[in-house]
Amino acid sequence: MVSSPDATRPALRLDKLRITFHAGTPDERVALDDLSLTLAEGDFTVVIGSNGAGKSTMLNVISGALQPDGGRVELHGHDVTHLSVHRRAAYIGRVFQDPMLGTAPSLSIEENLALAERRGQRRGLRLALGAANRKRYADLLAPFGLGLESRMRVLAGKLSGGQRQVLALLMASLRKPRLLLLDEHTAALDPGTAELVMRATRRIVDDDRLTVLMITHNMQQAIDFGNRLIALNAGRVRVDLHGEDKTGLTVDSLVRRFAGASDEHLLRA
Ligand SMILES: Nc1ncnc2c1ncn2[C@@H]1O[C@H](COP(=O)(O)OP(=O)(O)O)[C@@H](O)[C@H]1O
Ligand SMILES: [Mg+2]
Repeated sequence: MVSSPDATRPALRLDKLRITFHAGTPDERVALDDLSLTLAEGDFTVVIGSNGAGKSTMLNVISGALQPDGGRVELHGHDVTHLSVHRRAAYIGRVFQDPMLGTAPSLSIEENLALAERRGQRRGLRLALGAANRKRYADLLAPFGLGLESRMRVLAGKLSGGQRQVLALLMASLRKPRLLLLDEHTAALDPGTAELVMRATRRIVDDDRLTVLMITHNMQQAIDFGNRLIALNAGRVRVDLHGEDKTGLTVDSLVRRFAGASDEHLLRA
């Protein structure tokens, strides 16, 4: 369905997405309020916004984990709004905040990679782990400098949080997805490990020229990464900075820029 990408179409187009949780009850909450956003092929867009702004909900709608009440999701001009998570997984890679979510703990590093390589394909086939694949997976891991390439049969559950996030990143990008979704994927890590995982992120995104949507709470990361920066508030895009407006930012200027556009909470790094 999305099998013929059209490079002239935007990588992603969200058109007036709407989601209301607990509609008609006292807990009613509009999480996405006619949210529209278009990403060009190769854009690395960073998303910031206070807790509850709708960031994860937006990613859930893009991945297919949530159906919107209204609006449309297009990948390269193809309407995927009602395509299942499984069908979309062939085109979308995702890494979550929790290192436990991106990898299968009871499978080895190489088995995890083999599984990721077959994502979106027919199930029920045995994991193909010939010598050639083993070598290829080890070669893919070696540049990250974690020594994982010599521990390919170690269970993913035995790895540290940072190691699992690097493995999860590699798994999410192995099939060169048309879109990589990162939901605060370094927020659970200590600062040194977060930096290592961000270096790995940069390497993967640059090598594969991926289109990326990355949520972060870290203002310095929001400044250092990507060519576009958007701020969500109450389920809408409130600020959208590209090019020179983005490259010139400091944490202070970012705070000033967003003052008035968002609430205090958002502005604290
Ligand atoms: N599954 C859900 N059920 C009910 N309310 C939800 C659900 N997911 C998110 N929400 C609500 O929607 C709003 C946006 O949440 P979320 O997208 O997780 O925000 P963010 O990721 O920006 O912190 C919040 O008010 C949150 O409580
Ligand atoms: Mg979130």
